[in-house]
Amino acid sequence: MNVPLLDLNFQHRPLQKELAEAISQVVESNAFILGPDVNRLETAIAKYCETEFAIGVSSGTDALLISLMALGVGPGNEVITTPYTFFATVGSIVRLGAKPVFVDIDPVSFNIDPDKIEEKITSKTKALLPVHLYGQCADGEAIQAIAKKHDLRIIEDAAQAIGSQYPDGSKAGNKGDLGCFSFFPTKNLGCFGDGGMVVGNDPDLKERIQILRVHGSKPKYYHELVGGNFRLDSLQAAILNVKLHLLEKWNQERRENAKRYGQLFTDNCLVKNQKVQLPSAVHADSGVTNHHTYNQFVIRVLKRDELRDYLREKGVSTEVYYPVPLHLQRCFESLEHKEGDFPEAEKAARETLALPIFPGLTSGQQEYVVQQINSFYESNP
Ligand SMILES: Cc1ncc(COP(=O)(O)O)c(C=O)c1O
Repeated sequence: MNVPLLDLNFQHRPLQKELAEAISQVVESNAFILGPDVNRLETAIAKYCETEFAIGVSSGTDALLISLMALGVGPGNEVITTPYTFFATVGSIVRLGAKPVFVDIDPVSFNIDPDKIEEKITSKTKALLPVHLYGQCADGEAIQAIAKKHDLRIIEDAAQAIGSQYPDGSKAGNKGDLGCFSFFPTKNLGCFGDGGMVVGNDPDLKERIQILRVHGSKPKYYHELVGGNFRLDSLQAAILNVKLHLLEKWNQERRENAKRYGQLFTDNCLVKNQKVQLPSAVHADSGVTNHHTYNQFVIRVLKRDELRDYLREKGVSTEVYYPVPLHLQRCFESLEHKEGDFPEAEKAARETLALPIFPGLTSGQQEYVVQQINSFYESNP
């Protein structure tokens, strides 16, 4: 059996006609940059995220960059974040000449450990940049309390977490000053290329981001700020407008798949024998959680790399998010970090494995994945 890590055909095939119509309408209109499709998407995403505004941008990376720019982050500033995330979180801070200050992760949620944030705050700290890794919100209440106490701004990197909720029911992206989303095709809501969104509630930030998105100009050709071309394409917005109403259904399917994995791993004694550690949300209530949207279903395992090779031979695709934590990346050598600085992030980088979780994954495929993991540990105790 072949089990891909992600199969988007399940999402796109039933929408083929609507998607083709949406694309041809944009082509007919000749309005390729921003325009009505982007406006429609922005209104819908703001409503969905329960924020005052949403601004379409060119990617999740640019959502982070423009948010940091809007908050005035630059040389001399420090931004506190996690070393266990996709490169863009930290790359965006460094591109603006600011310094990323890392805080180790909580080993259960894989998100920034709020208990370790305060000791890293200095007079240069400008913002906190938590990441909702794999689709599970970081500890928003604790982070908000720290930000309030020290007068810091918060940017949520919710690139992997559209539709995720905090335990109080509020949506990812609306506890920070700004929330950033990615519509990269592998995300729970993906377009047919690159795209992103910034959400928030402060009208001044809204205006700054709108200006920064078009080279800092207002009106056209009169530049108040040095911005960039951070615009979302109309074609991508039109595609996302077709897909958005199915996001909740797809997220729910991901949760059901997660619950099924939880049951299958428990039935196989892989959890009891401590070969496999399930994501914390599956642990928490031994089943479905409303809060996690499982952009990735990531387990902790022994002999991770051997298991991954074995699964590949058996036709099961997996991925490692991420093999090298950011404090150990060569391009950040000037920060002078060394192995051992963030032990939980380093351990996670050695032990985590993402399994297929996409909507459309069948129960038969999930059973096969767990059977193969079981047989690996039978022959590699
Ligand atoms: C945590 C995180 N931040 C930022 C990004 C950047 O998003 P994009 O690929 O749309 O630029 C991603 C996407 O991979 C991500 O996973």
